[in-house]
Amino acid sequence: MSGIVRWGIIGAGGIARRRTIPALNLISNARVAAVMDKNGVTLSQLREEYGIENCYQEEEALLGDPEVDAVYIASPVKFHLEQARRVLDAGKHLLIEKPVALDAGEAEELLRYASGKELCTGVGMVMRFHGGHESIRKIVRDGLLGDIVSCRAQLTCWFPKMDGNWRQVKAIAGGGALTDMGIHCIDLMRYLLGDEVEKVCGMVDHKTFDYEVEDSVSAVLRMRKGADCFINANFNIPDEAAHCPLEIYGTKGSVLAYDTIGQDGEGDIFLTVSDSEKGYASSQVRSGTDGGRKLPYEQVNIYARQLEEFSACILEKRPARTTLADACQTMKVVDAIYRSSLEERTVYLD
Ligand SMILES: NC(=O)c1ccc[n+]([C@@H]2O[C@H](COP(=O)([O-])OP(=O)(O)OC[C@H]3O[C@@H](n4cnc5c(N)ncnc54)[C@H](O)[C@@H]3O)[C@@H](O)[C@H]2O)c1
Repeated sequence: MSGIVRWGIIGAGGIARRRTIPALNLISNARVAAVMDKNGVTLSQLREEYGIENCYQEEEALLGDPEVDAVYIASPVKFHLEQARRVLDAGKHLLIEKPVALDAGEAEELLRYASGKELCTGVGMVMRFHGGHESIRKIVRDGLLGDIVSCRAQLTCWFPKMDGNWRQVKAIAGGGALTDMGIHCIDLMRYLLGDEVEKVCGMVDHKTFDYEVEDSVSAVLRMRKGADCFINANFNIPDEAAHCPLEIYGTKGSVLAYDTIGQDGEGDIFLTVSDSEKGYASSQVRSGTDGGRKLPYEQVNIYARQLEEFSACILEKRPARTTLADACQTMKVVDAIYRSSLEERTVYLD
């Protein structure tokens, strides 16, 4: 392989077309070599929009293409495990969209299948690549906020019933608001805090829409170092009403972010650090209403950064930022939240 990774894409209609293909066209160590989609109309549009010549309707054709070094899978979730296995069988590197598979069992199956193969594998947890989230991670790791005690992450959208939409069918999507959006919040908490989930309490509901999968989920994750992380994901909040807050509170300060959990790599972040060792103040005066000091950070195209880094990992033979093992951990938390809600009890992780 030269200094450029040649990417094949399986499932090129939605996020691939909107974000991944444009992102691959922005970076210097990768390019789109071929796309595969079941929908022939989508393929014609991609050929026209991006001048992609190698457009296939069958996986075998893309996997047999010697011009493809690595494959990005963005098909409906039900197909992920089998397609990922075939990518690895074909000797191609693999970046697979979240959720990695329908459940933790499937995720572990893929992890086992990939282990021992000399291929770079990773999962598209793109929120890790937000410049602001990287700054927050450093602040937490440097101990600026003290011991982290309480956090919140929320990701929502407005997703009404649509006949034939695979995301609303449990057997194809695996789940609803939790597997589609809450998963980003769980992964982000694990990443920012550098900690793992010890136990969860979850509530999974159908509050607004009568499709098969849940439209609402709330969960508390108790982390091993003691922080409680509140996770919310909803399909029933209007986009213009949402600010997708990310809040981290420690014994010495807080970080409050709004609109950073999303696809644009934007949003505002406010940092408050308490400057002295304080005793108890009965007046409980707050630091003001300004929400803290606005934190500058590098605004980037998060999809381009993810693909550039993953391509570099392939070229330099090093592990990806979000590995299959990571995705298994996150899927175990997802499964535990479903179980907690169903059985109305706290569920412990292994
Ligand atoms: N990381 C992110 O920001 C992000 C955002 C959106 C979606 N996603 C993930 O990407 C994946 C796809 O979601 P989407 O929103 O693009 O869905 P989508 O429905 O918009 O697009 C899926 C595409 O896959 C094609 N397809 C269907 N069956 C196929 C098969 N068997 N093989 C190959 N292609 C097939 C469809 O024709 C369609 O073009 C999901 O796992 C989703 O969770 C990630």
